[in-house]
Amino acid sequence: MKKIFIETYGCQMNVYDTEIVKSVLGKDGFGFTESEMDADVVLLNTCSVRENANNKVYSRIHKILNGRKGDDVKIGILGCMATNFRKQLLENPKLPIDFIAGPDSYKRLPQLINDISAPVETNGAVKNFDVTLSEFETYSDVYPTQSDGVNAWLAVMRGCDNFCTFCVVPYTRGRERSRSPENVVDEVKRLADQGYRQVTLLGQNVNSYNYEGNDFAHLLEAVSEVNGIERIRFTSPHPKDFPRPLLQVIAENPKVCKQIHLPLQAGNDRVLEMMNRTYTQKEFLDLVDEIRSLYPKMILSTDIIVGFPTETADEFEETVKVMEAVEFDSAFIFKYSERPQTIAQRKFPDDVPEAEKTRRIVKLNEIQKRHSYQKNLGHIGEVHEVLLEKESTRKSADDFQGRNDGNKIVIFPRGDYHKGNFLNVEITEATPHVLRGKPVNVLNK
Ligand code: SAH
Ligand code: SF4
Ligand code: F3S
Repeated sequence: MKKIFIETYGCQMNVYDTEIVKSVLGKDGFGFTESEMDADVVLLNTCSVRENANNKVYSRIHKILNGRKGDDVKIGILGCMATNFRKQLLENPKLPIDFIAGPDSYKRLPQLINDISAPVETNGAVKNFDVTLSEFETYSDVYPTQSDGVNAWLAVMRGCDNFCTFCVVPYTRGRERSRSPENVVDEVKRLADQGYRQVTLLGQNVNSYNYEGNDFAHLLEAVSEVNGIERIRFTSPHPKDFPRPLLQVIAENPKVCKQIHLPLQAGNDRVLEMMNRTYTQKEFLDLVDEIRSLYPKMILSTDIIVGFPTETADEFEETVKVMEAVEFDSAFIFKYSERPQTIAQRKFPDDVPEAEKTRRIVKLNEIQKRHSYQKNLGHIGEVHEVLLEKESTRKSADDFQGRNDGNKIVIFPRGDYHKGNFLNVEITEATPHVLRGKPVNVLNK
């Protein structure tokens, strides 16, 4: 039996795909190991969204090869680098990898791995690859292995058609395609039968979900009818796909968590246009107002890029302005990183100096830390419904950890509760990152 070691980089979709890969290989008789040192095959499920994601993978490959000098360990590259850096990976003699497989080719993995023993010769190096992107593959017939027992991930759509000019995802993951609502609901029922309490619906662009006219609002309603599943989350959405009926479902359906990730990317209209985000600053702020008019305490998070090509210091100040106006609960802030193939790489110069990008990211991180802290302090005294996820925390075995409806981490002293319990917890302390509290009672859910 061949033993596989697999390591995952990048977003939640990749984490999910790793479980798909495990399921496919497990069915075919492959075994798994937790250590790259005794694996027959090492798989790296890669990300290429920013330059440093790529660099991490290259240095990891070298480290593994150094550690296993003289062995005949086989190395396979999966995920987004497989599609986007196919040429570099295949033609670099210093990277003796054995095969690559893109995100739509995982059902072919058993064959690719078995083929390594009967390899094809390219440039003197031995390589096999399948990076074909599919218009149809949704893995709707593969059940990913799931681990934590409380939250289950479920990809309802894959791919992205938005072509934001900075982003590599439409190239690495191909066109949008959705699974049928019936197929999604069947899987959610199966997950509920296994004891899961929460599902997180995944997609590169999840709220553009559409299956033969059934939109994302329809899907949320359908999933919420499954008994046993008490919470539904979704990620990651695009601000352009929040029509009123969807906002109403989020605001009114008790099972849908009151939390929306709303990637802003930039505050200035010229930059937003260059990014091809398809909304203006005003439209974004209007959407936030609409959300808050339907549900005033909606938890909001965002993604921001600083130093997009030609963004001036004044234009950057408009991102600051939007952040101050909205006061997000949390934000992921990135320096612009030029990606091969993207429209921005082909058309715009990466001309904001590194030091200036650093100045901007530091400024935004400070603002966000202040807002996160203020928001969290505002929760003190409230009672939150918490889903218990871990019977210990990184810091202490005397604490339990869960998340409230808004996806914030809540820590409380251990007690006679169990993973998967819903508890009312009174919030007593806050940091910018976590809430602390004391349990009031266990809910009968
Ligand atoms: N589909 C998701 C996001 C995918 S990538 C969405 O649209 O929200 C996650 C985040 O990485 C993006 O929101 C963006 O903020 C950031 N990102 C993507 N490409 C980038 C690049 N070239 N440089 C810096 N950050 C980038
Ligand atoms: Fe990338 Fe934009 Fe698609 Fe998100 S919506 S994956 S940022 S192209
Ligand atoms: Fe990275 Fe691909 Fe996800 S580029 S962020 S792993 S979609």
